[in-house]
Amino acid sequence: MRHLMDITDLSVQELDELIALAEDIIADPEKYQDACKRKKLATLFFEPSTRTRLSFEAAMYELGGSVLGFSEAKSSSAAKGESVADTAKTISCYADIIAMRHPKEGAPYVASLNASVPVINAGDGGHNHPTQTLADLLTIKREKGRLDNLTVGFCGDLKFGRTVHSLIDALARYEGIKVVLISPAELKLPSYIKKDVLKAQGVPYVQTTDLESVMPDLDILYMTRVQRERFFNEEDYLRLKDSYILEPKKLLSAKDDLTIMHPLPRVNEISVAIDKDPRAAYFKQVLNGKYMRMALILKLLEEAKN
Ligand code: NCD
Repeated sequence: MRHLMDITDLSVQELDELIALAEDIIADPEKYQDACKRKKLATLFFEPSTRTRLSFEAAMYELGGSVLGFSEAKSSSAAKGESVADTAKTISCYADIIAMRHPKEGAPYVASLNASVPVINAGDGGHNHPTQTLADLLTIKREKGRLDNLTVGFCGDLKFGRTVHSLIDALARYEGIKVVLISPAELKLPSYIKKDVLKAQGVPYVQTTDLESVMPDLDILYMTRVQRERFFNEEDYLRLKDSYILEPKKLLSAKDDLTIMHPLPRVNEISVAIDKDPRAAYFKQVLNGKYMRMALILKLLEEAKN
């Protein structure tokens, strides 16, 4: 059974194929409107979500399928003490494919070991978020026309930001990628990712606390929210939450064709004045996420047949 836990579960060739499939869906959605007829997607969300859950659900409806699930742990039997393993075995009796978000790193993996249908990690703690990466890759492809030879700046909470971890894992496998890591000292990218991904794959990177000094170098600026729910104490969160606020004047030295991304939700990191800048791509990411989730559901259900 094929699952998606980590973006590296998909080869670069498969990523490119999923992007091509999403582009075909965008060009001719009617062709796919019955592709998942009588199939059911279960969305098991033990943590808050707007985009990820609803884009999975919209994706399944647009493929002609249907959706069941829950959007908070307290409305499921997890509140009575049921294990993730038993939940996965149970849902496998009702649904053809599962998307799971959980605050504990590795919980979707436990589900995948116990489910008899494909399981998709829709975000596990501060670890990974591979389907946001699919949305991000399609956005970069559509904005830049390529996924190689780019200087990509990641700014904000690089320690707990699971979307950052997964996107770095994906981009490190493309040619000519340079990474710029911009964060407060306390929220640096975990050293295991620097060692096992960036250094291991020979991806050049720099670390800084100063966004403006690196702005002119960037082709892509990926802003992130400080992940309040992962902090051990509120004081640290309050001190760090406004470390970076992107305002129009900070873009004066940026490239004319910079692409500004953010997985959303935004708190304070990007001023709303930037939304009308043609370089802002964060609401395009939202839409691209639905198309990539359609492509992923199609692929995993097709492979599950075999
Ligand atoms: C992200 C997540 O859940 O990790 N949101 C999303 O899925 N688009 C980013 C975040 O919560 O900051």
